[in-house]
Formats: sequence, C-alpha cells, structure tokens
Amino acid sequence: MNPEPLRHWLAQPKPSTHCFPYDRVVDAYQHYGKQFVPETWTALLGAARERLPEVSGPRQQVAAFLGAVLDKVDGRFDYRSYLALPLLPIPDPDSVTEPADRLLARRDRLHVLLLSDLVAFELRALEGVCRPMSELRPAALVVRKRLHHAVRAASPALRRLSFDVHAVDDPVALARRLVAMACIDRTSDDRLALRTTMLPVSGVHDEWLFIRTLQTFELTFGLLAVDLTAVVAAVGEGRLPSAGIRLCLAATLLRETAPLWSLLATMQPEAFHRFRVHTDGASAIQSRAYKLVESLCRTPDPQRLHSAAYRSVPDVHARIRSGQISLDDALTAIRADHRTLAEVPVLADGMHQFTAAVHQWRRTHYRLAVRMLGTDQPGTGATPGTPYLLHSRDSAVFASREPITAGNERS
Ligand code: HEM
Repeated sequence: MNPEPLRHWLAQPKPSTHCFPYDRVVDAYQHYGKQFVPETWTALLGAARERLPEVSGPRQQVAAFLGAVLDKVDGRFDYRSYLALPLLPIPDPDSVTEPADRLLARRDRLHVLLLSDLVAFELRALEGVCRPMSELRPAALVVRKRLHHAVRAASPALRRLSFDVHAVDDPVALARRLVAMACIDRTSDDRLALRTTMLPVSGVHDEWLFIRTLQTFELTFGLLAVDLTAVVAAVGEGRLPSAGIRLCLAATLLRETAPLWSLLATMQPEAFHRFRVHTDGASAIQSRAYKLVESLCRTPDPQRLHSAAYRSVPDVHARIRSGQISLDDALTAIRADHRTLAEVPVLADGMHQFTAAVHQWRRTHYRLAVRMLGTDQPGTGATPGTPYLLHSRDSAVFASREPITAGNERS
C-alpha cells in the first residue's frame, strides 16, 4: 500500500478537501486493519489534520474522517470512532426538523444502503473478487444464510420504499437483486459515506458484518430517540392519541430489527474473538442513542444512573441531571393513571408494544452475547460482560403505570 496520493495531497500549496484521497486511505485501513496501520500512514494523516485550518473546501467531513482513522494513535478509540458514527447521517433529536414520514424514509434508505453494502461485500468474497479482509472467510453455506438474513432485515424498509424483493427463492439471487435496487438512486455522497465508515481494526472477514450490523442498529436507535422525544412532547401538549400512534410506530420499527440478530448470529465466534482483542474500549455501552431511548421512557434509578451504564454516555447523563423529561414524567405531570390510559387505548397499546419490543431486544442481545462470550469474559466496555447485561435485562421500560390491555385489565 503506497501512501503517495496522501503525500501528493499534502504537497499542494493549498490542498482542497474535494480532492482528499479517501479511497486510498480506506484501502490501506481495510488492508492492514486500524490496529496494524503502519506509522508512515498515521504520521501523514496526522500532518493532514494539522493542515486542516488552511485547506480549501468544506472541512467537516475530512475532519470527522481523520478523527475516526486517528482514534487509536490519539488514544481515544471508542464505540463512536470505531463505527465512524459522525460520518453517518443518523437522526438526532437535537437537530431533527423533518416530519416523521420524511425521517422514516431517510432512515429506511440508509438502512437499505448499509445492508446492501454488507451483501455486496459478501457476494464479492463469494465470487473471489474481494481482496481486503480475507482472514477466516466463512464457508459458502454460512454466507448464503447471511445473505438470506440480510435481505430479510432490509425487507420492511424496502417495502416502504416501494421495492419488492420476494420474487426469487435463492438467497444469492435475492441478494444480488437487493444490491441492484440499492444502486438505483445511490449518490456519490452515499458512496463516500459507505466507504469512509468501514474502518475495521483487523483483516478478519466477519468484522465487516459486525460493523455494518452495529451501524444499522445505531441508525434505528437514532430514529427511536427522535420518536420518543416527539412522544414526550405530544403528551406534554395533551395530544395523547398522537403520542400513542408514534409509540406504536416506534415499537414496530424496533421489532423489525429482529432479523439483524439472526444476521449477526452468522458471525463465526472464532472470527469475533480474533478481532475483538483490538476493540477494547469500544462498547455499545457507549451508545448515546440507546441510552437516550432508555432514559426517555423512564428516568433511570439513581443506582443505574451512577453506574457504568450512564458513566459511559456523559452527554446523556448530563441531560438527565439537568432535568430531561421522560414519558413516565410527562404522564405523571398530567396525572395520567391507568384510567387515562384505558380512555386512550392507542397510548396504552403503544406502551405495551414498546415494552414488549424492548424486552425482546434485550433478551435476544443477551442470548447472542452469551453465545459469543459465555458468562465469564469481561466486556469491552469495562463491565463483567454478560452478567452486566443479565442484571438489567428484565428491568421495567416504563415504571409508573401498567398499560391497560385486554390481557392485563385491572378492576
Ligand atoms: C457479538 C455480539 C455482541 C456481544 C458479544 C455483545 C456483548 C455486550 C456486552 C458484554 C455488553 C456489556 C458492556 C460491555 O461491553 O462491557 C454489551 C452492552 C451493550 N450492547 Fe452488546 N453485544 C453484541 C452485539 C450488540 C449489538 C449488535 C448491539 C446493537 C447496537 C449491541 C448493543 C449493546 C448496548 C446498547 C449495550 C449497552 C446495554 C446497557 O448499558 O444496558 N450489542 N454488549
């Protein structure tokens, strides 16, 4: 791997961000793995970062990219930088202005793009035309299963975007169709976002699957955080049916992520353990979007708030300390009890469905984590590992009131 294009960029009197050699840098990172990138590369990338104030063109993207590729040498490698999250247009409740339908369409489109990128990588490897990340290639049978689950995971979003993928049985043919569909309206910005957000720590094939699956979940959590924020606001304004409808839609979206777990379960444990030794310090315990969702449902108990769960997301911790209102708080403020919920069945239903979806999510996560790690290996987020997950697996999503539904009506 020759860093000449980077040297050439640096040698310009006033380099332009438009000509930054992203492809060459990404090729190098995928070739070596972030953990093993030679110093020649990181020194040049560090020099590029120093020159940023004097380059021409918009700097935000190059700055975010350099932040992601230099995280290990800077000693600030974490979940966000590992997944290059600042380079993905993930919805954020602090900056969202679009209506719910537009947001969902945007999420669906990126969801399909991320999964089709994974599928394209697997197909290239299957056809023997993909060189990077060739360690511990899975057997063809595993890849077929992987492709099948990837298409399943993309299907609800594809349907909403008016694509139909269910006309063929063969998973490889279906997967090819998914890639072709995703290419139809792919822009150069999409291509760049996909390229710059695959920065593995190793050369292990399955790390591609791991990274794309986590990013896909993050995308959904981001949208759920926006949804929950809107639900809390709607309750505060007394629009309870509207809050209920949005919560039901959020529950559907979370339920739809189930095939992502089957997809990730095709990861070979041996492969996971091979690259995991280099991901210490990056854990989804640092997922801001996940903790936003959790704390927007119910303000965490002091014990959880002061534990690793929230110490790992200082921004969310600070929001809660400064009075973030959860759905529970909003309902308490309007003195909503189980009678109120009985009178607004769609809200009761929303709470019930969302609770069930979160519990299902936590249980599946726990099962897969135990399968990959057992019960005695520590986590990469400085926790004891799966015992940490077990501790909060069944804790209440909403505390203050049981929604009234046909199955649990109280007299
Ligand atoms: C091989 C698959 C996985 C394993 C072995 C695993 C393992 C773990 C472990 C051990 C923890 C405890 C924190 C720590 O890292 O020390 C954790 C936390 C967490 N994981 Fe996973 N995980 C996996 C996949 C995923 C995926 C795909 C997601 C989706 C984003 C995810 C989301 C989370 C979240 C949000 C937490 C924090 C939960 C909390 O603080 O209550 N994990 N995981």
